[in-house]
Parts: sequence; structure tokens; C-alpha cells
Amino acid sequence: MPIPSGSNILAPDPSPKGWGENAPLVDRFGRSVNYVRFSVTDRCDFRCVYCMSERMTFLPRAKVLTLEELATLGRAFVELGVRKIRITGGEPLVRQNVLWLLQQLGRLRDHGLAELVLTTNGSQLERMAAELKAAGVARINISLDSLDPERFRRITRVGELDTVLRGIRSAQAAGFQRLKLNAVILKGRNHDEVAALARFAIENGLDISYIEEMPLGAMGDHDRAELYYSSDAIRADLARVFTLTPTTESSGGPSRYYRVSGTDSRIGFISPHSHNFCGDCNRVRVSAEGRLLLCLGQEHSVDLRHVLRAHPGDHERLKQAIVTSMDIKPRGHNFQLGGQPVILRYMSHTGG
Ligand code: GTP
Ligand code: 5AD
Ligand code: SF4
Repeated sequence: MPIPSGSNILAPDPSPKGWGENAPLVDRFGRSVNYVRFSVTDRCDFRCVYCMSERMTFLPRAKVLTLEELATLGRAFVELGVRKIRITGGEPLVRQNVLWLLQQLGRLRDHGLAELVLTTNGSQLERMAAELKAAGVARINISLDSLDPERFRRITRVGELDTVLRGIRSAQAAGFQRLKLNAVILKGRNHDEVAALARFAIENGLDISYIEEMPLGAMGDHDRAELYYSSDAIRADLARVFTLTPTTESSGGPSRYYRVSGTDSRIGFISPHSHNFCGDCNRVRVSAEGRLLLCLGQEHSVDLRHVLRAHPGDHERLKQAIVTSMDIKPRGHNFQLGGQPVILRYMSHTGG
């Protein structure tokens, strides 16, 4: 049964439909899609060297999905069996009134959504953490690539480490149970901080994922092959200091997790180059301009903004467009380290 539409569209449904019955989002390779990521803005207050070029042009407002359109999309995806919605950007918390959207999406938990989660650079967390918790956000992933203020500035080009550290403390104080740090590791830039970042996570009761850089967007003088530092190298660095035990725990994302003996923390590795995870892919993403991207590393997409704007209120048509998109979900990415990136879209358009 669809979630009732009308003025009170997101009011609790007395008979929420459970995941598993009739899940309609299954692709040609038999993979079920139960996780969607919404990039709510392509703008950001940082300019991380692996994500953006120094000079970026941002989308004009009319091309970006409105918050109402995003709420409608959330409802459609949940009716189609999606269990996890992650809000990303750019930096999602710089979007005006994003809390309203989170509150609307938070109510979908009464209709089968298991988790509303957020990925952020942490710059706005100090002021927003408590409201995010109240809106129903369950978990937050926070980017943190260095604990050295100078370095942090060099990697983000403009970011202040201390602001992010205060944001992390506010999120802890707001009562978020599991906070995860994301560290993109680059050889010669921050690879020598792998153990220090893990120690910081452990001391603060956080999880951490180490990420291999993905080649999205043209970056000028940033040589991705030269900067590549593999997950295996990171794990070897960590094994000199900690005892890591593999676990089958999953957060529904691409991280492979290890437990650190004697601590509560989990250490994850996101390894698009060295341990391809496309075979288990359970997710799609919607870009800030409303393109439903079937794979982060390919251009196969459906223009949901067009469907929303050409047929306003036609919820069944919207859902049908999403169901049909499963036919073009590709088997996986073909990221290559050397040469020019095949995907010219920047990470900030899709938020990972
Ligand atoms: P949880 O598992 O829910 O904690 O989150 P997550 O790791 O899925 O999300 P997050 O936003 O923290 O992303 C971490 C990294 O994983 C980012 O660099 C993303 O680009 C990357 N990532 C997430 N999904 C995919 C995917 O489908 N393909 C690739 N190549 N990378 C992905
Ligand atoms: N490769 C890998 N991870 C990236 N991120 C941003 N750009 C890239 C890239 N090119 C990470 C950010 C954030 C997450 C959403 O994606 O650090 O933690
Ligand atoms: Fe902003 Fe995140 Fe991209 Fe850094 S990685 S520029 S914080 S969107």
C-alpha cells in the first residue's frame, strides 16, 4: 500500500509495509537496491583536493532539486523498499532549511525506513548536532583526513580543524551512538597519520573508515596514481600498532570492517581499487540536480528532475521511472588510476 498522499503525506501509516515483501528494486544482476544517497547540494564550504578543483562552478538554484522534491523522492524510494537514506552533498548542512527535509524523511521511519543517516565535513555540526538528532538522523559520518591543523588546511584548502573537532564533540554530546570518521588517505599527504587517526577514533569511541581515492572529476595538477595508497598498505601500517580482527559486521555500505582488540571501535576499509565491492552493490544515488545515478563510477542515469517537473503530483510515474532504472544499473565501475578520469563529474555532485 502506498504511503497516503495529500496534505499530511508523511503521517504515520497504520500498516507499514515491511522490507522483503515484494521488493521491486532488483537489477539485472539480481542485486536488491535498499540504500539511496541524496546529494542535497553541490556546494561546500571546503574545497578538498580529491573532491573539487580549485575553481568550481556551482549549479544555478533552479537546477537543484527543491526540498519538497527531495521529500517526495524519499517517499517514493521508501515505498519501493528502500531501507536506508543517506544525505550527502557537497556539504549537506550548508543547504538552507535542510533540517526541514530531514524531519520529513525522518517520519518515513514509520513506513519502513530503517535508517536516516548523514555524511558531512563536520563544519556545521557544532550548531546543528542536537537538531539533527531530534530530526531522526541515526548515524553521522564525518570526514577527517588529518589531525594537524596546517595539513588539514592544505587538504581541505580552506577548512579549520578545530571547528570540525568541536563539531565531533557536539555530535557526541547530542547522543549519537555511532559516529564514523572518513579519512581519504593520500601518499605523501597524510599516509603517515593512519595510526594517529585510528588512535584518535579509539580514544573517542568512534569508528573510522579509510578510503582509497576515486578518480572523479579533473583535478589539474593532482596526480592520482602518484597519490595512491592502498588499503592493504594502510592495514599493514595499523597492524604494527593494533591487533585487528576481521568481522562480518556491515553498515550497509562498502566498508570491510575490522575490530580493534580491547576497544569498541571498528576500522573499515573502502577500497574501490584494490578490493572491488560492486558485486554486492545495494545502492543508487540522486545528484543535486536530480539525476538518479545507478553507479558512482558510471554515467548511466535517469533524469528524475524532469519526471518530477513535467508530471507534478504523478507519484506512480515517478516510482515507475525508478523501477525501470534498474534495467540500466551497470555491473560496476571501471576506475583506473592512471590517465585522465573517465568520469568528469566531481564527487561533490553526488557526495560519494
Ligand atoms: P555507512 O556504511 O552507512 O557508514 O556509510 P558509507 O560508507 O556507505 O557512506 P559514506 O558517505 O561515509 O561514504 C564513504 C565512502 O564510500 C565515500 O568515499 C563514498 O564515495 C564511498 N562509497 C559509498 N558508496 C559507494 C559506491 O557505491 N561505490 C564507490 N566506488 N564508492 C562508494
Ligand atoms: N575519492 C574517495 N573519497 C572521496 N570523498 C570525496 N571525494 C572523494 C574521492 N575522490 C569522500 C569524502 C567524504 C565521502 C562522502 O567521500 O571524504 O567522506
Ligand atoms: Fe566538501 Fe566533502 Fe568535497 Fe571536501 S569532500 S570538498 S568536504 S564535499
